[in-house]
Amino acid sequence: MTVADTPAGGGEALCAATAIEERGRAWVWDVLEYGRPVRAFALRFDGRLRAYLNRCAHVAAEMDWQPGEFLDTDRRWIVCSIHGASYEPADGRCVGGPCGRGRLTPLAVREHDGQVYWYPSRDIQPVPFDAPASERPP
Ligand code: FES
Repeated sequence: MTVADTPAGGGEALCAATAIEERGRAWVWDVLEYGRPVRAFALRFDGRLRAYLNRCAHVAAEMDWQPGEFLDTDRRWIVCSIHGASYEPADGRCVGGPCGRGRLTPLAVREHDGQVYWYPSRDIQPVPFDAPASERPP
């Protein structure tokens, strides 16, 4: 059975579904966007998984204030730890702060049989298993 034949339909296995709790710490992993290393994160909000590149729309910087911690103290908004831009977790749209009309870059994620999968696109690809260190985020 090839990956494309699996119920996940070509997705990349990410983690166990139980590893991402409602409004909890996000699952963070490495991807390549246009061949360049960048981090991505997945969180659960209102029962649904959402995933985005870990890159603020204000300045291209990682946003979590601790590894995997993206939500504000009320667990309502994704907040950038650098200058406080706020994003709607459901769609990545900027809702306050210096991100203006920007939004986070989404990645497709899905849950199947207790496993979370993410779906590469033309622009966002998995890091090859044997990628040199230069292709991995710091
Ligand atoms: S870098 Fe995120 S708000 Fe400025």
